[in-house]
Amino acid sequence: VEKVDFKSKTKEITAIVESALDKNIPTGKNRLQQEVYEAMRYSLFAGGKRLRPVLAIATCEALGGNIEDVLPYACAFEMIHTYTLIMDDLPCMDDDDLRRGMPTCHKMFKESTAILAAMGLFNNAVMIMKNAILSKSPDKRDKFERAMSEIIDVTGAEGLIGGQIVDLASTKETTDKDTLHFIHHHKTGVFVTAPVRVGAIIADATEEQLEKLTEFSKNLGLAYQIQDDILNVIGDEAKLGKKVGSDEKQNKATFPSIYGLKESQEMVAEISKKSGDALDILGEKGEYLRQLTKYCANRDS
Ligand code: IPE
Ligand code: IPE
Ligand code: MG
Ligand code: MG
Repeated sequence: VEKVDFKSKTKEITAIVESALDKNIPTGKNRLQQEVYEAMRYSLFAGGKRLRPVLAIATCEALGGNIEDVLPYACAFEMIHTYTLIMDDLPCMDDDDLRRGMPTCHKMFKESTAILAAMGLFNNAVMIMKNAILSKSPDKRDKFERAMSEIIDVTGAEGLIGGQIVDLASTKETTDKDTLHFIHHHKTGVFVTAPVRVGAIIADATEEQLEKLTEFSKNLGLAYQIQDDILNVIGDEAKLGKKVGSDEKQNKATFPSIYGLKESQEMVAEISKKSGDALDILGEKGEYLRQLTKYCANRDS
């Protein structure tokens, strides 16, 4: 089996992502709109784990693809993910003060600035993908356009936004299990699946590989959000960088509130195992993603 040092490999990939993100959002220094760029950069560089870009890059690499080609999409994922977190924390949504170990964007800046920063990040994500496509000669654009579609298709009311609106309307008394699965799939799952699919598409994956990797990432995404729910109950605020106990306080429909803590923990283990099994299609090349799956299942931050 190919030996992979999980920690140093993760560091290596995240360093590439950090530097690309930095290059792709201006500081706005001494310009009239400086405040919106400051807020965008504040939230983007507040210390996220960069899971989505790591997934896109690691998948692309495992299939022998070109990292430079997937990098703009990896950045787009992190920009959009960060925009959803800024929105998610607003007083009219989850009303959170702490994110990534720092005051939330609307606490650090004004609420109006936070909303504009979120939209600004979304726009930058679209621009970086548009530029990636236009940098290729017209006869070589197909897979790059397809990659952008994969992202745009899941950021709207059929994906992230759809998940968030149902999440906000749900309480633990009124939410059945199907609706809970709908919420988790849409608000989080699709945005774990899309990076893996984009990484695979950029690496010219076969349909069979794409199908197996979709299965891998669907399970990973579900386990990831169940673990997020669990950590909101038993996690450590200092490690998480966000408040614990907030779901309970707001009477949210979560896996622990609907299935109980113990069953939720068992589900994370079981679903993560399924996720890892689907990586068999990559053989030895799947070793890093296999370790990433284990890390996600056992994470405390
Ligand atoms: C938090 O995402 C919100 C969810 C969708 C679970 P992450 O756990 O990836 O948070 P960061 O990006 O590391 O801050
Ligand atoms: C966040 O879900 C999902 C999106 C931002 C799309 P949560 O509200 O459960 O995540 P945290 O716990 O605030 O990070
Ligand atoms: Mg939320
Ligand atoms: Mg939240």
